[in-house]
Amino acid sequence: MAWVTKGIWHSCCSAPRVLLGRRLNVYVIGSVTLIALGLTLFQAKVELRSLTEEVERSALALAEIQESAAEPLLQGGSSAALQALVDRFQNRGQSVGEAIYDVKGQPLAITAALAANVVFPPSAVVQAMRHGWRQSEFLPVGGKPMHVLALPLKSNDAVIGAIAIFQDAAGVASHDASVWRHALENLAVQTVLILIITIVVVRWSLRRPLRRMAQWLEDLRTGKTPVESELPKEALFRPLAKEVSRIATSLQAARAAADEEAHLRDTAQALWTPERLRIFVQTKLDGARLFAVSNREPYEHNTRAGSVVWSVPASGLVTALEPVLQACDGTWVAQATGDADRESADDRGRVRVPPGHPQYTLRRVWLSKEEEDGFYFGFANEGLWPLCHIAHTRPIFRSEDWAAYQVVNQKFADALLEEIEGEKNPVVLVQDYHFALLPQMIKKQRPDARIAIFWHIPWPNPEAFGICPWQREMLDGMLSADLIGFHIQAHCNNFLETVDRALESRIDWESFAVNRRDHVTVVRPFPISVAFSAANVDLTPAPDPDAERTALFRQLGVEASLLGLGVDRIDYTKGIVERFRGIERFLELFPFYRGQLTFVQIGAPSRTHIKRYQDLMLEVEAEAERINQRWRKGEWKPIVLLERQHSHEEIKPYYRGANFCLVTSLHDGMNLVAKEYVASRADRDGVLILSRFAGASQQLQDALMVNPYDTEELAQAIHTALEMPSEERSARMERMREQVRENNVYRWAGDLIGELTGIRLGKADAQKPRAPLSAVPPREFEEVAAGGMRHRG
Ligand code: G6P
Repeated sequence: MAWVTKGIWHSCCSAPRVLLGRRLNVYVIGSVTLIALGLTLFQAKVELRSLTEEVERSALALAEIQESAAEPLLQGGSSAALQALVDRFQNRGQSVGEAIYDVKGQPLAITAALAANVVFPPSAVVQAMRHGWRQSEFLPVGGKPMHVLALPLKSNDAVIGAIAIFQDAAGVASHDASVWRHALENLAVQTVLILIITIVVVRWSLRRPLRRMAQWLEDLRTGKTPVESELPKEALFRPLAKEVSRIATSLQAARAAADEEAHLRDTAQALWTPERLRIFVQTKLDGARLFAVSNREPYEHNTRAGSVVWSVPASGLVTALEPVLQACDGTWVAQATGDADRESADDRGRVRVPPGHPQYTLRRVWLSKEEEDGFYFGFANEGLWPLCHIAHTRPIFRSEDWAAYQVVNQKFADALLEEIEGEKNPVVLVQDYHFALLPQMIKKQRPDARIAIFWHIPWPNPEAFGICPWQREMLDGMLSADLIGFHIQAHCNNFLETVDRALESRIDWESFAVNRRDHVTVVRPFPISVAFSAANVDLTPAPDPDAERTALFRQLGVEASLLGLGVDRIDYTKGIVERFRGIERFLELFPFYRGQLTFVQIGAPSRTHIKRYQDLMLEVEAEAERINQRWRKGEWKPIVLLERQHSHEEIKPYYRGANFCLVTSLHDGMNLVAKEYVASRADRDGVLILSRFAGASQQLQDALMVNPYDTEELAQAIHTALEMPSEERSARMERMREQVRENNVYRWAGDLIGELTGIRLGKADAQKPRAPLSAVPPREFEEVAAGGMRHRG
């Protein structure tokens, strides 16, 4: 038996010690013993109380019988009668005897067996007479445990004495001892049982999840990718699992950053950096300088509260071109749009930028209001913009706008000619649909200039472009460039087909070049990108996205836990209303997310002089308001619309904290928000939901692709994004980051400038196609109705 007890004791002590550690072991055994002791004491007390109550009940019954007989006898003062009453009473039940006292506590009658041992009245008797109410007590009488119950005897409510019933309490005393013995035995058994149960519970509820967590951490330490869903799910472990998963995310991010650094070291030759671009451009330009022309200026100076402040306008073009100019120290000619632009520049409109650490020259061009209305708002943005974007807004072409377009193109050409004066073989990068005529205007004066025009928006099919009444002039203007760039191959194809339909020219479909009046223009795709390289990407792990989200929500005064994000100019091509409907449908289909997901739309007001844009802003606001009215509850609402221009610095925390970013362009040349979001996610988290009608969808194939017109698909994509396991999120984001890193904007500029400087220039009539073109045999052409030459082969 002893060895069994010893064995149990040993396993009771050793098993929890193994499982819980020595200190915890002491706590567990100590607490278990205390609990069992407490229970035992409580049980013993209850039993003793019920035993005492039983003795007291029987004594009271006897006393009440005697009371009614004793009171008149005591009143009559007959001691003999009282003694006779007491004598009659002997040996009833457990009773040993009784005694009757007068009001002074003198015994008037007492059972003979008690007389010798009860000399003084018991205190219960004294108390009963004092308080006029029954009292009881245990006391030893003649060496035996005795229970005494005393009742006051009364006459006309006045206490005249007391009667005391003495009962043998040996049973209670011995029972008391046995209760304690049993209780202690119980204590031992309960302690052992509780310990055994504790061990079993510990084994099943703690050891298995702890083992799983240990295995998970080991996988993480040894470089395997642990699966988040394998972390313990039990409520007890949730806070721990959350912390462990956060540590894992940071560790993975740090490891990925280290890998990335190593990778960058290994592939230093393959990746484009600002430094590599600078050296490349210097070599390629061979002493020539780089010039860029765009309508939108990279820095605007405005007066705010009496002082001049600068800002960077919301423009994909600016986002892309700025790092290139910074790397090459060229000159950027652009329209002055800030009210303090003039006072911030010299008398020729030049200012070194970026403000504070100048790296290149901005040459500003001022337009009159009429010029801006006709050129920018009219021809460019009411005509060409909707013409090139298939977003179902009708293009408007007015001849006065066309006239302004020509005037302004000439004005910019003049400014550029001034800048390149004296420069040998300058390299000019003309930007966008605002300046289709510029290449021709410059070439006329400076045939030695190498000119590329990069078209930042889509090029539609020939039928659509044919709507433009001046398509031939536009095409002619562009074809004076040596190189025409689009974001994707499909836009190059559309352009060549348009030229093919509209103009007399020779098109080489193999090398994608057009020969028009003996001038050769090469047409190529150059997918534009963002500044993502080893040199300017923060490789340290990003701040905790949860904390970033919480801070943003606090700042916005919204109570939510999940953040969806959209960042756009408010433009009808961006599908903002469609996106809101996707959010609405998502909340309809998945009510669980109500109160949790808030979608923040950062919307920069754009082209606000144009009625279509004014209407759109009202529509976007009304749609956000309608959806918010439908679902909002307490401090939560589904959509936050931030209608103002935000700086890159302001947008960054949103990118870093967003659980998903929604890019739902109805049609887009590239869309750099998609790439900025990817470049911002150093933690490899977050999901990109991307319109298949944005050029970026050709490169960011790990995004969740959507048709923004399909509300159901949008809602399902949001759900997929929010439910996506973290390993998949991270794998997809990593692949997209790889894409953007390798195809960053430095590479875009390098490819564009490399292609342009590789083109052999000559006198217009003597110009030959580049080497690959000259190898192409002449082809046969036929006249087409549009007056162009059609390639038969
Ligand atoms: C697109 C165009 C750019 C233009 C930008 C912003 O990205 O391709 O040329 O700068 O939108 O538009 P905005 O009219 O404000 O310059």
